[in-house]
Amino acid sequence: MLDRRFSIAPMMDHTDKHFRYFMRLLTKHSVLYTEMITTGALIHGNSKQFLDFNPNEHPLAIQLGGNNPNDLAHCARMAENEGYDEINLNIGCPSDRVQNGKFGVSLMANKNLVAECVSKISANVKIPVTVKTRIGIDDNDSYEFLMEFIETVSNSGCDTFIIHARKAILEGLSPKENRNIPPLNYERVHKIKRNFPRLNVIINGGFTEIKQIKAQLAHVDGVMVGRAAYQNPFMLVEIDNLIFNDMESSITRRSVLEKYKIYMEEQIKHGVNLKNLIRHVVGLYKGQPGSRKYRQMLSCAIPENKNNIQFLEEIIESIS
Ligand SMILES: Cc1cc2nc3c(=O)[nH]c(=O)nc-3n(C[C@H](O)[C@H](O)[C@H](O)COP(=O)(O)O)c2cc1C
Repeated sequence: MLDRRFSIAPMMDHTDKHFRYFMRLLTKHSVLYTEMITTGALIHGNSKQFLDFNPNEHPLAIQLGGNNPNDLAHCARMAENEGYDEINLNIGCPSDRVQNGKFGVSLMANKNLVAECVSKISANVKIPVTVKTRIGIDDNDSYEFLMEFIETVSNSGCDTFIIHARKAILEGLSPKENRNIPPLNYERVHKIKRNFPRLNVIINGGFTEIKQIKAQLAHVDGVMVGRAAYQNPFMLVEIDNLIFNDMESSITRRSVLEKYKIYMEEQIKHGVNLKNLIRHVVGLYKGQPGSRKYRQMLSCAIPENKNNIQFLEEIIESIS
Protein backbone atom coordinates (compact mmCIF):
# COMPACT_ATOMS: atom_id res chain seq x y z
CA MET A 1 0.00 0.00 0.00
CA LEU A 2 1.28 3.47 -0.89
CA ASP A 3 2.13 5.75 2.01
CA ARG A 4 0.40 8.94 0.94
CA ARG A 5 1.14 11.12 3.95
CA PHE A 6 2.79 13.57 1.60
CA SER A 7 2.55 13.96 -2.14
CA ILE A 8 3.55 16.48 -4.79
CA ALA A 9 0.64 17.63 -6.93
CA PRO A 10 0.19 17.05 -10.65
CA MET A 11 0.92 20.32 -12.48
CA MET A 12 0.64 20.72 -16.24
CA ASP A 13 3.80 21.96 -17.85
CA HIS A 14 5.66 21.57 -14.53
CA THR A 15 5.70 18.02 -13.13
CA ASP A 16 7.40 16.41 -16.10
CA LYS A 17 9.92 13.62 -15.60
CA HIS A 18 12.83 16.03 -15.15
CA PHE A 19 11.08 17.88 -12.37
CA ARG A 20 10.13 14.59 -10.75
CA TYR A 21 13.75 13.43 -10.88
CA PHE A 22 14.74 16.69 -9.21
CA MET A 23 12.05 16.16 -6.54
CA ARG A 24 13.48 12.73 -5.77
CA LEU A 25 16.80 14.31 -4.91
CA LEU A 26 14.99 16.13 -2.10
CA THR A 27 12.53 13.51 -0.88
CA LYS A 28 12.60 9.74 -1.25
CA HIS A 29 9.18 8.98 0.17
CA SER A 30 6.74 11.57 -1.20
CA VAL A 31 4.32 10.27 -3.82
CA LEU A 32 4.92 11.99 -7.15
CA TYR A 33 2.31 12.67 -9.84
CA THR A 34 2.67 13.19 -13.56
CA GLU A 35 1.02 16.13 -15.28
CA MET A 36 -2.49 15.31 -16.43
CA ILE A 37 -2.28 13.14 -19.56
CA THR A 38 -5.47 12.88 -21.60
CA THR A 39 -6.71 9.59 -22.94
CA GLY A 40 -6.67 11.15 -26.42
CA ALA A 41 -2.99 11.99 -26.10
CA LEU A 42 -2.09 8.51 -24.91
CA ILE A 43 -4.18 6.66 -27.45
CA HIS A 44 -3.39 8.78 -30.51
CA GLY A 45 -0.09 10.43 -29.56
CA ASN A 46 3.41 9.30 -28.71
CA SER A 47 2.47 7.13 -25.75
CA LYS A 48 6.03 5.99 -25.12
CA GLN A 49 7.11 9.56 -24.58
CA PHE A 50 4.10 10.43 -22.40
CA LEU A 51 4.58 7.39 -20.19
CA ASP A 52 8.35 7.60 -19.84
CA PHE A 53 9.81 8.00 -16.36
CA ASN A 54 13.03 7.34 -14.50
CA PRO A 55 13.11 4.29 -12.20
CA ASN A 56 14.05 6.47 -9.22
CA GLU A 57 10.67 8.25 -9.41
CA HIS A 58 8.69 5.58 -7.51
CA PRO A 59 6.26 5.86 -5.80
CA LEU A 60 4.77 7.43 -8.89
CA ALA A 61 1.17 8.02 -9.94
CA ILE A 62 -0.06 8.85 -13.40
CA GLN A 63 -2.91 11.32 -13.68
CA LEU A 64 -5.37 10.63 -16.48
CA GLY A 65 -7.88 13.05 -17.94
CA GLY A 66 -10.89 11.75 -19.84
CA ASN A 67 -14.52 10.71 -19.56
CA ASN A 68 -14.78 7.55 -21.61
CA PRO A 69 -14.65 4.51 -19.30
CA ASN A 70 -13.22 2.19 -21.96
CA ASP A 71 -10.53 4.64 -23.06
CA LEU A 72 -9.59 5.34 -19.45
CA ALA A 73 -9.35 1.63 -18.70
CA HIS A 74 -7.19 1.11 -21.79
CA CYS A 75 -4.84 3.94 -20.79
CA ALA A 76 -4.73 2.72 -17.20
CA ARG A 77 -3.60 -0.69 -18.42
CA MET A 78 -0.88 0.95 -20.52
CA ALA A 79 0.30 2.84 -17.44
CA GLU A 80 0.22 -0.23 -15.24
CA ASN A 81 2.26 -2.18 -17.78
CA GLU A 82 4.78 0.62 -17.84
CA GLY A 83 5.22 0.32 -14.05
CA TYR A 84 3.22 3.17 -12.52
CA ASP A 85 2.09 2.66 -8.91
CA GLU A 86 -1.29 4.41 -9.04
CA ILE A 87 -3.87 5.64 -11.52
CA ASN A 88 -5.34 9.01 -10.61
CA LEU A 89 -8.37 10.43 -12.36
CA ASN A 90 -8.56 14.19 -12.81
CA ILE A 91 -11.93 15.56 -11.66
CA GLY A 92 -10.53 18.96 -10.73
CA CYS A 93 -9.24 20.79 -13.79
CA PRO A 94 -11.39 23.78 -14.83
CA SER A 95 -9.59 24.87 -18.03
CA ASP A 96 -11.72 25.71 -21.09
CA ARG A 97 -10.04 23.02 -23.14
CA VAL A 98 -10.86 20.41 -20.52
CA GLN A 99 -14.41 21.71 -20.07
CA ASN A 100 -14.96 21.55 -23.82
CA GLY A 101 -13.86 17.92 -23.71
CA LYS A 102 -16.38 17.39 -20.86
CA PHE A 103 -13.86 15.99 -18.42
CA GLY A 104 -11.91 17.44 -15.48
CA VAL A 105 -13.94 19.24 -12.85
CA SER A 106 -17.13 19.43 -14.93
CA LEU A 107 -17.49 15.69 -14.25
CA MET A 108 -18.23 16.51 -10.61
CA ALA A 109 -21.76 17.21 -11.81
CA ASN A 110 -21.99 13.68 -13.22
CA LYS A 111 -21.03 11.44 -10.33
CA ASN A 112 -22.51 8.35 -11.97
CA LEU A 113 -20.22 8.70 -14.97
CA VAL A 114 -17.22 9.19 -12.66
CA ALA A 115 -18.26 6.04 -10.80
CA GLU A 116 -18.51 4.17 -14.09
CA CYS A 117 -15.04 5.36 -15.12
CA VAL A 118 -13.53 4.33 -11.78
CA SER A 119 -15.24 0.97 -11.84
CA LYS A 120 -14.04 0.23 -15.38
CA ILE A 121 -10.48 1.29 -14.58
CA SER A 122 -10.44 -0.73 -11.34
CA ALA A 123 -11.65 -3.82 -13.16
CA ASN A 124 -8.72 -3.53 -15.56
CA VAL A 125 -5.74 -2.83 -13.30
CA LYS A 126 -4.39 -4.16 -10.02
CA ILE A 127 -2.80 -0.89 -8.87
CA PRO A 128 -4.91 1.57 -6.82
CA VAL A 129 -7.27 3.97 -8.56
CA THR A 130 -7.63 7.39 -6.93
CA VAL A 131 -9.61 10.52 -7.71
CA LYS A 132 -8.45 14.13 -7.44
CA THR A 133 -11.32 16.53 -7.13
CA ARG A 134 -12.50 19.78 -5.53
CA ILE A 135 -15.09 20.57 -2.86
CA GLY A 136 -17.68 21.67 -5.43
CA ILE A 137 -18.45 23.47 -8.65
CA ASP A 138 -20.40 26.71 -9.15
CA ASP A 139 -23.56 26.60 -7.03
CA ASN A 140 -23.05 22.92 -6.29
CA ASP A 141 -20.96 23.76 -3.28
CA SER A 142 -22.78 22.33 -0.28
CA TYR A 143 -21.34 19.66 1.98
CA GLU A 144 -24.15 17.34 0.85
CA PHE A 145 -23.13 17.70 -2.79
CA LEU A 146 -19.54 16.72 -2.00
CA MET A 147 -20.64 13.92 0.31
CA GLU A 148 -22.92 12.38 -2.31
CA PHE A 149 -20.16 12.60 -4.91
CA ILE A 150 -17.68 10.85 -2.60
CA GLU A 151 -20.23 8.24 -1.56
CA THR A 152 -21.16 7.30 -5.13
CA VAL A 153 -17.60 7.22 -6.42
CA SER A 154 -16.21 5.34 -3.42
CA ASN A 155 -18.80 2.64 -3.94
CA SER A 156 -17.35 2.05 -7.40
CA GLY A 157 -13.88 1.03 -6.25
CA CYS A 158 -12.01 4.16 -5.20
CA ASP A 159 -10.90 4.44 -1.59
CA THR A 160 -8.55 7.40 -1.92
CA PHE A 161 -9.69 10.94 -2.66
CA ILE A 162 -7.43 13.93 -3.05
CA ILE A 163 -9.52 17.00 -2.42
CA HIS A 164 -8.45 20.49 -3.41
CA ALA A 165 -10.23 22.41 -0.66
CA ARG A 166 -11.82 25.06 -2.88
CA LYS A 167 -14.62 24.88 -5.41
CA ALA A 168 -14.18 25.64 -9.10
CA ILE A 169 -16.12 28.38 -10.85
CA LEU A 170 -16.63 27.23 -14.39
CA GLU A 171 -17.36 30.49 -16.13
CA GLY A 172 -15.45 33.72 -15.79
CA LEU A 173 -12.34 32.51 -13.96
CA SER A 174 -9.10 31.36 -15.57
CA PRO A 175 -7.50 28.16 -14.24
CA LYS A 176 -5.02 30.33 -12.34
CA GLU A 177 -7.82 32.37 -10.74
CA ASN A 178 -9.57 29.11 -9.90
CA ARG A 179 -6.53 28.20 -7.84
CA ASN A 180 -6.65 31.44 -5.86
CA ILE A 181 -10.04 33.14 -5.79
CA PRO A 182 -12.57 30.59 -4.47
CA PRO A 183 -11.88 30.47 -0.73
CA LEU A 184 -10.21 27.47 0.89
CA ASN A 185 -12.43 25.39 3.16
CA TYR A 186 -10.28 22.82 4.95
CA GLU A 187 -13.05 21.97 7.42
CA ARG A 188 -15.16 20.60 4.55
CA VAL A 189 -12.42 18.10 3.73
CA HIS A 190 -11.91 17.17 7.40
CA LYS A 191 -15.63 16.46 7.64
CA ILE A 192 -15.42 14.06 4.70
CA LYS A 193 -12.73 12.15 6.57
CA ARG A 194 -14.85 12.09 9.74
CA ASN A 195 -17.89 10.83 7.82
CA PHE A 196 -15.95 8.30 5.74
CA PRO A 197 -13.28 7.03 8.11
CA ARG A 198 -12.51 4.00 5.92
CA LEU A 199 -11.45 6.24 3.01
CA ASN A 200 -8.01 7.78 2.57
CA VAL A 201 -8.56 11.48 2.38
CA ILE A 202 -5.73 13.68 1.12
CA ILE A 203 -6.12 17.43 1.51
CA ASN A 204 -4.70 19.92 -1.01
CA GLY A 205 -4.60 23.67 -1.49
CA GLY A 206 -2.55 26.53 -0.11
CA PHE A 207 0.04 24.74 2.04
CA THR A 208 3.49 26.30 2.12
CA GLU A 209 5.08 25.16 5.40
CA ILE A 210 5.91 21.86 7.05
CA LYS A 211 4.19 22.82 10.28
CA GLN A 212 0.88 23.35 8.45
CA ILE A 213 1.31 19.97 6.78
CA LYS A 214 2.00 18.23 10.09
CA ALA A 215 -1.04 19.90 11.65
CA GLN A 216 -3.28 18.65 8.84
CA LEU A 217 -2.24 15.06 9.49
CA ALA A 218 -4.29 15.17 12.70
CA HIS A 219 -7.43 15.48 10.51
CA VAL A 220 -6.71 13.65 7.27
CA ASP A 221 -4.50 10.86 5.91
CA GLY A 222 -2.23 12.96 3.77
CA VAL A 223 -1.36 16.34 2.34
CA MET A 224 -0.63 17.20 -1.28
CA VAL A 225 1.38 20.30 -2.16
CA GLY A 226 1.70 21.86 -5.60
CA ARG A 227 2.91 25.39 -6.09
CA ALA A 228 5.05 25.64 -2.96
CA ALA A 229 7.01 22.53 -4.02
CA TYR A 230 7.74 24.15 -7.36
CA GLN A 231 8.48 27.63 -6.11
CA ASN A 232 10.44 26.66 -3.01
CA PRO A 233 11.62 23.09 -3.57
CA PHE A 234 14.10 23.04 -0.71
CA MET A 235 11.17 23.10 1.75
CA LEU A 236 10.80 19.41 0.86
CA VAL A 237 14.12 18.51 2.38
CA GLU A 238 12.46 18.07 5.78
CA ILE A 239 9.58 15.93 4.55
CA ASP A 240 11.30 12.53 4.78
CA ASN A 241 12.48 13.29 8.26
CA LEU A 242 9.46 15.06 9.77
CA ILE A 243 6.59 13.35 7.95
CA PHE A 244 7.95 9.89 7.08
CA ASN A 245 10.28 9.57 10.11
CA ASP A 246 13.29 8.73 7.94
CA MET A 247 16.20 10.32 9.77
CA GLU A 248 18.84 9.31 7.26
CA SER A 249 18.98 12.14 4.85
CA SER A 250 21.56 14.89 4.88
CA ILE A 251 20.83 16.93 1.82
CA THR A 252 22.19 20.33 0.89
CA ARG A 253 21.29 22.57 -2.00
CA ARG A 254 24.76 22.03 -3.33
CA SER A 255 24.50 18.22 -3.20
CA VAL A 256 21.15 18.39 -4.99
CA LEU A 257 22.56 20.57 -7.76
CA GLU A 258 25.60 18.34 -8.15
CA LYS A 259 23.42 15.26 -8.59
CA TYR A 260 21.02 17.06 -10.91
CA LYS A 261 23.98 18.19 -13.01
CA ILE A 262 24.95 14.56 -13.63
CA TYR A 263 21.34 13.84 -14.64
CA MET A 264 21.33 16.88 -16.94
CA GLU A 265 24.48 15.73 -18.69
CA GLU A 266 22.86 12.36 -19.38
CA GLN A 267 19.63 13.95 -20.64
CA ILE A 268 21.43 16.43 -22.89
CA LYS A 269 23.24 13.51 -24.51
CA HIS A 270 19.77 12.15 -25.32
CA GLY A 271 18.80 15.41 -27.01
CA VAL A 272 16.89 17.13 -24.20
CA ASN A 273 17.11 20.91 -24.33
CA LEU A 274 19.02 22.52 -21.46
CA LYS A 275 16.23 25.04 -20.90
CA ASN A 276 13.74 22.28 -20.16
CA LEU A 277 16.04 20.90 -17.50
CA ILE A 278 17.27 24.04 -15.84
CA ARG A 279 13.87 25.74 -15.44
CA HIS A 280 12.93 23.37 -12.63
CA VAL A 281 15.81 24.36 -10.35
CA VAL A 282 15.24 28.11 -10.45
CA GLY A 283 13.54 28.13 -7.02
CA LEU A 284 16.17 26.06 -5.22
CA TYR A 285 17.77 29.00 -3.38
CA LYS A 286 14.53 30.82 -2.63
CA GLY A 287 14.83 32.89 0.53
CA GLN A 288 18.61 32.41 0.70
CA PRO A 289 21.29 35.08 0.46
CA GLY A 290 22.43 35.07 -3.15
CA SER A 291 19.19 33.69 -4.53
CA ARG A 292 18.76 36.61 -6.90
CA LYS A 293 22.26 36.21 -8.20
CA TYR A 294 21.65 32.47 -8.65
CA ARG A 295 18.50 33.09 -10.70
CA GLN A 296 20.27 35.71 -12.78
CA MET A 297 23.22 33.41 -13.47
CA LEU A 298 20.85 30.67 -14.57
CA SER A 299 18.88 32.87 -16.88
CA CYS A 300 22.01 34.36 -18.46
CA ALA A 301 23.58 30.95 -18.88
CA ILE A 302 20.73 29.37 -20.82
CA PRO A 303 20.87 31.39 -24.04
CA GLU A 304 24.67 31.51 -24.06
CA ASN A 305 25.53 27.92 -23.37
CA LYS A 306 23.84 25.89 -26.03
CA ASN A 307 23.70 22.79 -23.86
CA ASN A 308 27.18 23.04 -22.39
CA ILE A 309 26.48 22.76 -18.70
CA GLN A 310 29.92 23.56 -17.38
CA PHE A 311 28.43 26.88 -16.26
CA LEU A 312 26.52 25.02 -13.54
CA GLU A 313 29.83 24.12 -11.89
CA GLU A 314 30.68 27.81 -11.73
CA ILE A 315 27.28 28.63 -10.30
CA ILE A 316 27.62 25.92 -7.66
CA GLU A 317 31.05 27.25 -6.69
CA SER A 318 30.00 30.86 -6.55
CA ILE A 319 26.80 30.33 -4.61
CA SER A 320 27.90 27.79 -2.01
C1 LIG B 1 0.81 25.29 -13.20
C2 LIG B 1 -0.21 24.35 -12.57
C3 LIG B 1 -0.68 23.27 -13.30
C4 LIG B 1 -1.62 22.39 -12.75
N1 LIG B 1 -1.99 21.27 -13.44
C5 LIG B 1 -2.78 20.33 -12.85
C6 LIG B 1 -3.04 19.08 -13.46
O1 LIG B 1 -2.52 18.74 -14.54
N2 LIG B 1 -3.88 18.22 -12.81
C7 LIG B 1 -4.44 18.53 -11.58
O2 LIG B 1 -5.19 17.72 -11.01
N3 LIG B 1 -4.19 19.70 -10.99
C8 LIG B 1 -3.37 20.59 -11.57
N4 LIG B 1 -3.05 21.75 -10.90
C9 LIG B 1 -3.60 21.98 -9.57
C10 LIG B 1 -2.67 21.44 -8.48
O3 LIG B 1 -2.53 20.04 -8.60
C11 LIG B 1 -3.21 21.78 -7.08
O4 LIG B 1 -4.47 21.15 -6.93
C12 LIG B 1 -3.38 23.28 -6.87
O5 LIG B 1 -2.26 24.01 -7.35
C13 LIG B 1 -3.61 23.61 -5.39
O6 LIG B 1 -2.52 23.16 -4.61
P1 LIG B 1 -1.35 24.18 -4.11
O7 LIG B 1 -2.04 25.33 -3.44
O8 LIG B 1 -0.51 23.35 -3.19
O9 LIG B 1 -0.62 24.63 -5.34
C14 LIG B 1 -2.12 22.63 -11.44
C15 LIG B 1 -1.64 23.73 -10.72
C16 LIG B 1 -0.68 24.57 -11.27
C17 LIG B 1 -0.14 25.72 -10.43
